[in-house]
Formats: sequence, structure tokens, C-alpha cells
Amino acid sequence: IVASFGERVLAGLKVVVSAGPTYEDIDPVRFIGNRSSGKMGFAVADAAAQAGAQVTLVAGPVSLATPQGVSKRIDVRSAAQMHAAVTEAAAGAHIYIGAAAVGDYRPNEVAPHKLKKQNGQDLSLQLAQNPDILASLAAQQGHPFLVGFAAETQNVESYARDKLQRKGLDMIAANQVGDGLGFETADNAITLYWADGSAQLPRADKAVLARQLVDHVASRYRVQRG
Ligand code: CTP
Ligand code: CA
Repeated sequence: IVASFGERVLAGLKVVVSAGPTYEDIDPVRFIGNRSSGKMGFAVADAAAQAGAQVTLVAGPVSLATPQGVSKRIDVRSAAQMHAAVTEAAAGAHIYIGAAAVGDYRPNEVAPHKLKKQNGQDLSLQLAQNPDILASLAAQQGHPFLVGFAAETQNVESYARDKLQRKGLDMIAANQVGDGLGFETADNAITLYWADGSAQLPRADKAVLARQLVDHVASRYRVQRG
């Protein structure tokens, strides 16, 4: 469809991208995290900047260099910190692309000192649910065009379409995790879904996929928001 590599399809638009995992602290030396490397989100931020957008990148704990052309990077650790940073950055933005793997739960309380092992006993952690960043943006008046990601291990299309609808998104990028694809890998394969359409982006380097994703986001944005 719109293979406009190198065109400034997002010129004049403010784009916020979230990337990477979140870490939810248990005590001063331990946390609950996930396998997101941040590579896909950083590639999307890079592609959006190359497409002419003014990009703010909100990054969870990753060891990746800021892509050239990204105007502002905000480093966060927890889902709550990411929620606050994205909410602030998204005010006045045209597009939010939520590529971060946001932790769904956090420990109810963070122990002030290192937890000590109780020999022979199981340990239970009580977890509280984190706010949904995308859904909370969708509930706001005048919110940006919203793009979510869905990494699934099964039933990719039905889970992705359900998230699209449930969270009030404009587009969702779904990928099957596992089999050398997805988290902690260089390659990915993505299907984009929106209310009345879809597009298949076959297995490729994350930088290539990110450019294609940005092209589709730009054209759907134009269709919906002029
Ligand atoms: N997301 C978010 N805030 C959260 C959790 C997820 O904004 N607290 C966003 C992610 O950045 C991603 C999208 O929602 O763009 C889908 O994330 P995913 O984990 O697949 O969706 P969940 O609704 O958390 O469903 P589940 O983990 O149960 O599959
Ligand atoms: Ca989740």
C-alpha cells in the first residue's frame, strides 16, 4: 500500500512513543519485570522522527541509545511513573504509540529493606493492578490518535481486536511472540488492525517494520483526523 520510505509523512505532528518494560519494585534489590527489550518502540520512535514528527520517547528500563532526531526522552521505571510521564507528554500530542510492555500488576507494598528468606516456607506476594495508560488516555477529551501493541502467544487476531475495541484505540499492532519472533529478538512480524481494516507486515527487521507501521499510522491519522 503506502510504501513511502523516506517521505516526511508525519511532518508537523507531535508524537509520543512509549517503549520497553516496566519494573515494579518488591524491595530495594528485587523487582517484577518482563522480557521487553524496547527495540521495537525505539525503532518506532526513530521512524516517526525520520518521518518528520516531533517525538517524545518515554522509556522504561532499557539499555538503548536515543535515536537521532528524537526531541525528548523521559526515562521511567514503574508503570505508575510511565503513566504520569505519558499523560503529561500526550497533552497536546497528535499521536500516542504505546509500544511499552507495561506491567499489569505491582506489589501492594514495597518493602523498605531487603526481604529475608524464611527457610522452608513459601512466599506469597500480594499484587495490585496498575492503571491502563492507553485506556485512561482514551477516556480523555481531545485525546491523541491512539495506537496500541498486543504481543500474544495465541489467538492473535481475536485478542488484538478485543483490545482495539475495549481500550478505545484507533489502531493496534499485533504480533505472535515465540518461534524466534517478538521479545528479545531482532525480527518481528506484525498485523495492524483498525475498526474497518487490517494490514499484514511480514517478518522483517524491526527498523523496516517500524517504518511501515509509521506509514500506516500516518495514513489512518489523515483519514480520521484530516
Ligand atoms: N497498556 C497500557 N497500560 C497498561 C497495560 C497495557 O497502556 N497498564 C498498553 C500497552 O502499552 C499496549 C497495549 O496496552 O500498547 C496492550 O497491552 P497488553 O499487555 O497486550 O494488554 P492488556 O490489556 O494488559 O491485556 P493482557 O496483558 O491481559 O493480554
Ligand atoms: Ca498486559
